[in-house]
Amino acid sequence: MTSPDRPRVVVTRRLPAAVEERLRSEFDARLNPGDHPCTTAELQDALRTADGLLPTVTDRVTAEVLSVEPRRARILANFGVGFNHIDVAAAKARGIVVTNTPDVLTDDTADDAVMLMLMVARRAGEGERHVRSGAWTGWRPTHMLGTRVTGKTLGLIGMGRIARAVAKRAHHGFGMRVIFHDPYPPAPEVAQQLGAEPRARVEDVLREADIVSLHCPATPETHHLLDAARLALMQPTAFLVNTARGDVVDETALVAALEQGRIAGAALDVHEHEPRVHPTLLTMENVVLLPHLGSATQESRVAMGLRALDNLKAFFAGQSPRDRVA
Ligand code: DGY
Repeated sequence: MTSPDRPRVVVTRRLPAAVEERLRSEFDARLNPGDHPCTTAELQDALRTADGLLPTVTDRVTAEVLSVEPRRARILANFGVGFNHIDVAAAKARGIVVTNTPDVLTDDTADDAVMLMLMVARRAGEGERHVRSGAWTGWRPTHMLGTRVTGKTLGLIGMGRIARAVAKRAHHGFGMRVIFHDPYPPAPEVAQQLGAEPRARVEDVLREADIVSLHCPATPETHHLLDAARLALMQPTAFLVNTARGDVVDETALVAALEQGRIAGAALDVHEHEPRVHPTLLTMENVVLLPHLGSATQESRVAMGLRALDNLKAFFAGQSPRDRVA
């Protein structure tokens, strides 16, 4: 059924039922019930035929995709806080508005980072595999000893919303000392409340931390921020946690650092070439691997969808959407 009076919005992936219902009631929504990842041609077709696109991290909205003519779409209301899969500069140059969904996933993503920190330090993934494989022979004092997290030093790379939520949990919950580097640091009193001490350089954090957790956006500047040289600065007893974006870490260099025992382990929610995971990482017991679950709770995913919907509504009502990034 067509709805000539309502803006047409193409939604690139299946969304929680409550969100799809709202989208159907507010827009001429074209949904993706099969949930297949969109091809370049499908994205271009959507831009040609719809007033707005609701993409997500699996859509590569490149300059080429955006160059489609004639184009009808004037807004990309991204489902997700990260928008490195969208060529924002190209969108801006073409006058296309881009929005994201901050805030609503902060706590769940922070929980994910803390979960990964505990999992890798306390060998939880390895322990689970051990039990399931039937290899467990019973409790013994020297079995599967991990590393204590309480009281250790957590190093945050990036100090935005999610990093601050991690700092709060780590400092107030686990009595951790928190250090961080961010080129745009929070006000000193904000850092102080979180028990977090700034460091001038990424390298300073890497040298000092027992656990390094990444919280910077994926930009050309942060691509392979953790390369072989920086990984070499970490302590051999230290762990790396990544809930940001895969390509902030040079995965090949990470594999080499793990193989050579230059760091103690890694816990990765995001991967450089998702959904492909480096084959060597799959074989390593001291590596925790999750399928990009940071915001994967019912609560966050519904809130993200409704936030994207609000951005669309504001835009089509002629207002400036709340979460405009371009
Ligand atoms: C986000 O919101 O950026 C999540 O990583 C999903 O894209």
